[in-house]
Order: sequence, then structure tokens, then C-alpha cells
Amino acid sequence: MKKIFLLLGLLTTVYAQAQQDAKMNAFVSNLMSKMTLDEKIGQLNLVTPGGAVTGAVVSKGVDENIRKGLVGGLFGIWGPEKVRQAQKIAVENSRLHIPLIFGLDVIHGHKTIFPIPLGMAATWDTMLVEKSARIAATEATADGLKWAFSPMVDIARDPRWGRISEGNGEDPYLGSKIAQAMVRGYQNGDVSKDNSLMACVKHFALYGGAEAGREYNTVDMSRVQMYEYYLPPYKAAVDAGVGSVMSSFNVVDGIPATGNKWLLTELLRKQWGFKGFVVSDYTSVSEMTAHGMGDLQAVSALALKAGLDMDMVAEGFLNTLKKSLSEGKVTQQDIDVACKRILEAKYKMGLFEDPYRGVNEDRPAKEILTDDNRKAAREVAEHSFVLLKNDAQILPLKKSGTIALVGPLADNQRNMLGTWVVAGDWQKSVSVMQGIRNVAGNNVNIIYEKGANITDDSLLKARTNALGVEVETDKRSPQDMINEAVDAANKADVVVAVVGEAADMTGESSSRSDISIPESQENLLKALVQTGKPVVIVLFNGRPLTLTWENDHAKAILDTWFGGTEAGNAIADVLFGNYNPSGKISTTFPRSVGQIPIYYNHKNTGRPFNNDGAKFKSSYLDISNDPLYPFGYGLSYTTFSYSDVKLSKTKLKGNETLNATVTVSNTGKFAGEETVQLYISDPVASVSRSVKDLKGFQKIMLQPGESKEVTFTITPEQLKFFNSDLKYDWESGDFIVHIGTNSSDVKIAKLNWIK
Ligand code: BGC
Repeated sequence: MKKIFLLLGLLTTVYAQAQQDAKMNAFVSNLMSKMTLDEKIGQLNLVTPGGAVTGAVVSKGVDENIRKGLVGGLFGIWGPEKVRQAQKIAVENSRLHIPLIFGLDVIHGHKTIFPIPLGMAATWDTMLVEKSARIAATEATADGLKWAFSPMVDIARDPRWGRISEGNGEDPYLGSKIAQAMVRGYQNGDVSKDNSLMACVKHFALYGGAEAGREYNTVDMSRVQMYEYYLPPYKAAVDAGVGSVMSSFNVVDGIPATGNKWLLTELLRKQWGFKGFVVSDYTSVSEMTAHGMGDLQAVSALALKAGLDMDMVAEGFLNTLKKSLSEGKVTQQDIDVACKRILEAKYKMGLFEDPYRGVNEDRPAKEILTDDNRKAAREVAEHSFVLLKNDAQILPLKKSGTIALVGPLADNQRNMLGTWVVAGDWQKSVSVMQGIRNVAGNNVNIIYEKGANITDDSLLKARTNALGVEVETDKRSPQDMINEAVDAANKADVVVAVVGEAADMTGESSSRSDISIPESQENLLKALVQTGKPVVIVLFNGRPLTLTWENDHAKAILDTWFGGTEAGNAIADVLFGNYNPSGKISTTFPRSVGQIPIYYNHKNTGRPFNNDGAKFKSSYLDISNDPLYPFGYGLSYTTFSYSDVKLSKTKLKGNETLNATVTVSNTGKFAGEETVQLYISDPVASVSRSVKDLKGFQKIMLQPGESKEVTFTITPEQLKFFNSDLKYDWESGDFIVHIGTNSSDVKIAKLNWIK
């Protein structure tokens, strides 16, 4: 009976959807029957009048082109007045009154800025991530926008790559869960709602595989590797109903993604069933010329035929498709299909009913940077911080005594927000110093000294400051600054050193070959450690850094990424124990750059190294194979113990399932959250499998002394992988279940499963 009801429910939904689609088709076909060729090509043109620019080109003659019906969408402006003004030109002065789509890089918040995505991933909390995207969507739509160039879900295993900060780290399972949470948060089930944004998953595909971690560099990998590790988060976003996809700058199997038919049509549409539209990245159409794919006309035709629908800024579609049509290089149908997809997106956004949907001059004051939004940003930031080290329970700090607060990021609002905060205002952010004063009150005596510039390296400084001065150079000499900091330390009970990267040392076009804390600050840290006072490092970073020296010498390290608008308050909450840190890193921290790429879900070699010093094993002469901090690692102010893993069955057949259970106990003195992680390995298979893969996680809260049973149900679905024919299935045999507090520290149990 229940099954019949479910089936009926499903049929009703399918029927309602089919009716809606038919209505949309009729509307769009009717509109297209009135459009000229130029107007159709115009819909494929995405322009920016300025604002946030990430390439050499900025669109010209924007107003005039809107009037002529030669623009489909606009990005880089926001605010109801500006959006209304531009939309008015489209709907009042263009021949067919077709509304524009307004997009922006809303990446980790719109004006209330949340932690950078790599930090948000460290929460392992999809509800919080979804909440942050919901708030971002509400604020962005209050500012007249309807489309976000987010989520960025590129898997990255190379921390030299600056854009590792914008994604969710190295794991496809965690990355997929977060991708879906973001899509749900932005789109809210219906992109026509006043406070919904259409999401755009990017950068499709494999952008995070850039060789040597160098920005925009070439990518080369096997199909098995792509399907198993790099593609799942994009697919997860598609499964969650993402409305649009952005193609990436790099080549995929030798052909630039933007002109890659296998990628944009075979895989995305035919295999995955994607129904939305695909936009290029910033001038990635014209950049195919430099990739060696021909002149602007040739690459534009290549992109259209591959399945690209919208050309961002290059104006290759606008200026060459007509000619290509007359020369038979593209067909009318190619143009119509792309145009239809753009118009369908506008229809789904409800823009034909109301082109000013959600645009209301009263909204910004009521909905942007509200107390509630700031509260949420503080909560998410607290959950994103990762306690990397805490010797002898030096943290949390007492709300009394004297603290030497030092470091170039300690009293620095400018660098709180991190990369990609197009509409964010750093002046609205809370510095660490301010946060400490807010949280610790008057009982704590703070002696502040800057101690060092963020960097004194002239090349690094100049390039970091390309878009504005984030790295300031003090009038005092480096030695004078260090001396003053040492004086402060000598007068204090504890030193809190706020050090790390400037906001734009990561993000687009911000690769680094040396991923340590810049030397000026390392010199400061060394001098502080020499005072003998306990040094607590509060770290700002958009990527895993090499922290071997810091790990050996600091008493505690709290990784705070770039925490956003409320970073200072959130950091102080954690430093003083108002919140017990629970973040876990979603990317391996190497000991040295020489170990890169280093990631937990690697394959075994034929000569695995067991740290026994034996010759002719896969190892280095000068360093261990282990990372400094493994994937999934993060401490708490309390301690957790894990029981052995109990399996409900150890011999299974076919579609049976089993439960794997551990008991986790809080053995310390603080209430705290723990993320319990499930990994599975498949030691014998038809392709060489990774040593283990994340397959589940649960976040639990435990009071001191409390224990909880945590159970994972394991199904054959979790055993599946791509074999060498790219068939996704599982194979009979033995499996190992690993459950633990991070990817290295696990309890294991074995089972046998026959098909
Ligand atoms: C970036 C994209 C971004 C676009 C628009 C490009 O340079 O790669 O992530 O969405 O610019 O700003």
C-alpha cells in the first residue's frame, strides 16, 4: 500500500513537472520565433562593465549593446539601483524586452563574509554550509542579483595552487556533500523565489589538477582518476539540480574544457543528464587561441559545437558566430539550442514575469549585514577553525593576566576576509585585537606589537598587493619591530602570535612555490620562542602551509584560515574557550613542498614504505612519507577515545547491508564536538585502489564523561569504483572498514562480501 502511495506521489510530481516544462517550452519557442539571428546570438553574450575583473579585457559599449539586444547577462555590478537601471534598458529599450541575468562571484558570502571555502569545508557540517549559502543568497538577491558563480568544487591536492582556498579540499566524498549543501542553500528548491540565486558549479573540469600548482597550468590525468576523484563533486552538484555550470580554463585530455565536446555534451548532458546552461570562464573562449585551437572565429565555433551556451567577456560568440553560420561552420540549430537554454534559465528565474524579481530598494538595509547574519558568520567561523596543536592544554586561555598580542595580522582588518570577496567590505570586519577585547573584557591586559611586516620579500609583496595594499611596510626596521615584540613577550604570561598569509596570497592567480609562513614572520616567531614564554600561533592561511618548525616550537597552533567578517570575535571565542574547536582539515598538510602532491587517498606502490628505513622502497632519503597533519585531523580542548569497531556481519552476500559501530567517549574536561570518520578500503580489485576512501562521517556532541555509539550503515553502493572500462560497480572480496578521528588514526575491522 505504502509503495502504491509513493508511486502515485512520484507520478504526480513527474506529471506536474512535465506540464511546467511544456509551458516553458511553448513560451520560449514563441519568443524565439520572433528573434533575429543577432538577438539570439546576443543572448549568449555575458559582459562585465568593470567591478571585479580577472582578465585583461573588460566589455565595452555595454549600454548600447543591451539596447540592441546583444547582451544576455551582466556581472560585476550589484545594488538595486544599478541593477534596476541596467535591467530597465533591456526591458524597456530593447526590441523584444528580454530581461538580463545579473551574476556575481558570491563565493563565501555576499557582504556578510563567511570563512573561505577551505575553512567552511573544515566544519564537516553540511547544515552550517547550507545556512551560509542561504544567507549569501538572501543578501545577494537583496542587492539585485540572481546568479552566483559558486560553488567552486575543484578537487585540489596541491597547496601551491592559490585556488585551493576556494574549494573543499582533496576528498571527493566530502566535496560532494558540500557541493550539494551549497546548491541547496543558494537555490532553495526554486530559483524563481525572491531570495533564491541560481548556482553555477565550477570550474568544469579538473581545474584543481594544474601541474606544479601553477595557476592556469595544464592538466593531464587518466580517465579512471578523473571519474574516481575529480569529477564526483561536479556531478553531485548536477544531481542536486544546479542551474548552471562554468567551464574551466584548462585542457581536459588535450582539449580546452571550454571547447571540449566530450566533457560538455557527452559527459555532462548525456551521461549525467544536466539540463541547465554552461557558461565559459572569463575569456576562456578567446584563450583557446593561445591553447593552439585556432583564431577567434574557430574557437568560438568549437565552443558552441562542444556545448558551451554563454561566452563570458570574450565576445567571440557575438562577433563571429554569424560569419560561422554563413560559412557552414556552425548550424542554426547549434545557436538555437544555446539560446533556448539561456532563455529557459531566465524563465526558471521568473524574470519574464517580473524582470525586477527580488529587486527592492528597501531590502539591503533590512537584509544585508544584519545582526543575525553576523551571528551566523561568527558561528560558522568558530566551527571552521582547526586546532593543530595544543601542548599541555595551553589553550583555552584564562580571561586574566597579561597577553602579548603580536604579529602583522593581530590588529589588521584588511586581511580578515580572504580571497574573492567582491562585494565584501573589510572595514566591516572584526580584527583579532578587537575580538579579544570584546570577548576577554577588562580583566585581560593586552600588550600589542606588530613585530613584523607580513612579508619583506619585494616580489611576493608587489604581487600580493596588485589589487590593493594588503601587505604594508612599516617605517621601523624589521629588527626594531622584533625587539619591541620581544619586550612585550617578556612582560606577558603568554604570547599570542597572529601570523600567516595576506588575503590575496591565495585565490586566483596566487600560486606560491614556497608555502611556509613568510620569512619576516618566521624571524619574529623564532625570537618570540627564544624568550621562553609560551607561544600560541593563530594562523591565517588560504592553503595548507609547511609548519614543521612551528609545530616543533609553538605550544599551540590554531588554524583560522580567513574567517570572514566576524573572524576576530570567533577567534577570541575559541582562544578563551567560549567555543571548543571542532574543525578538521580537508586537505593534507605536508612537511615540506617536496612531498607535494601528498593526499591521504593515494594508491599503494609495489614497494610500499613502512618507515623501517629499508632501501629500494617508495620513500625519500631526507624526509618521512607522512604528512605533518593528515586529512581529517583536528584537535579539541577535550579528548575522545574510540572503542574497537563492531560489525553486525562479517560475511555478506549481494545487496545485504551491515552496521559498523564504534563507541566514542569524551575523556577530557570540556564538552566538545567530534567528527567520526568512516573509510573503506578494497585491498584486492581489478584496478589498483587507493589505500582508503572516505565513505561517511557523523558529527556528535559529547559532554565530559559521556559516551555515544556511532553507527554507519554500509551498503554495496559504498564499495563501488570505476574499473578500467569506466564501469561503476563493486567486486566481490575482502574489505576493510576504518573508523576514527582522522584518516590516519583509525580502528579497523575486516569483512568479506560476495556478489
Ligand atoms: C574565475 C572565475 C570567476 C570569473 C568571473 C574568473 O577569472 O576563474 O572563478 O567566476 O572570473 O569573475
